[in-house]
Amino acid sequence: MLSNKHILGMDDLSADDIARILETAESFAEVNTRRIKKLPTLRGLTVVNLFLEPSTRTRTSFEIAAKRLSADAINFSASASATVKGESLRDTAATLAAMSCDLVVVRHKYAGAPRMLAEMMDCSVVNGGDGIHEHPTQALLDLYTMKRALGRLEGLRVGIVGDISHSRVAGSLVPALRKVGATPVVIAPPTLLPSRPDVLGAEVAWDLDEQLASLDVAYMLRVQMERADGMPFPSLREYARFYGMNAARLAKMKPEAIVMHPGPMNRGVEISADVADGDRSLVLTQVESGVAVRMAVMYLLLGGADSGVAA
Ligand code: NCD
Repeated sequence: MLSNKHILGMDDLSADDIARILETAESFAEVNTRRIKKLPTLRGLTVVNLFLEPSTRTRTSFEIAAKRLSADAINFSASASATVKGESLRDTAATLAAMSCDLVVVRHKYAGAPRMLAEMMDCSVVNGGDGIHEHPTQALLDLYTMKRALGRLEGLRVGIVGDISHSRVAGSLVPALRKVGATPVVIAPPTLLPSRPDVLGAEVAWDLDEQLASLDVAYMLRVQMERADGMPFPSLREYARFYGMNAARLAKMKPEAIVMHPGPMNRGVEISADVADGDRSLVLTQVESGVAVRMAVMYLLLGGADSGVAA
């Protein structure tokens, strides 16, 4: 079990919770390598994916995770849902509650929507990304991926590079790294940093090249054109020149250092195609880990630990 019923942000998880999730995910990762990848653990329980913002990767990851644990997984997507017909989040919550679901995974363009939903419903709520706020399961799968690749989390120096101010991924990854004893360094031009980056609890740097040699992980963020008000830098070429990961920059990193990206990638902007497809890029490993980590989250939230199936 975890210390909270919901995972709305990293504040809901203690260091012990994180360790338990990563450990449980290990056993599910093994299940995911079998030919028959299904466990009966959550049979009879209903997981609703309420995705009110476009998403393929995260939604399918939660859906596969629920199905591999034999839960009934139901997708509510933005275009299909009544929200486009003007239904309020309160009405959507009441409708879902009337269908007696056990877990709702919500993605919403407004920060705070998952918390509102959690207050209105009896079931567990997991934040699948809310506005520019948090995306906690992304941070958990990133920790899992780093630990598998580098053998530890404590003491790692992780550069999170790019659009920090619009990134819910950074919003969860910075506190997640701090909880496990790693050092987050946010690296961005000042126009892509929040106005008080120090309150994030990360080190702050403007010059990527100066940081390269000291990093264990370069975590590249997507430049979020849809969220930027006006152009925060002169051109995409200019951005790539100063903040893009490429072969020359990778060569300046420690030989064992890795490159990560939450996807979707803008190839040629924040990451060059050769690095993205190269053997030090863990982009696809992150996607793979996502399923095991989300299985662990669902299993622990829904009391699966009592059934003794995985752990
Ligand atoms: C991220 C998201 O949607 O917050 N992607 C993801 O969940 N895999 C990051 C992004 O959109 O850049």
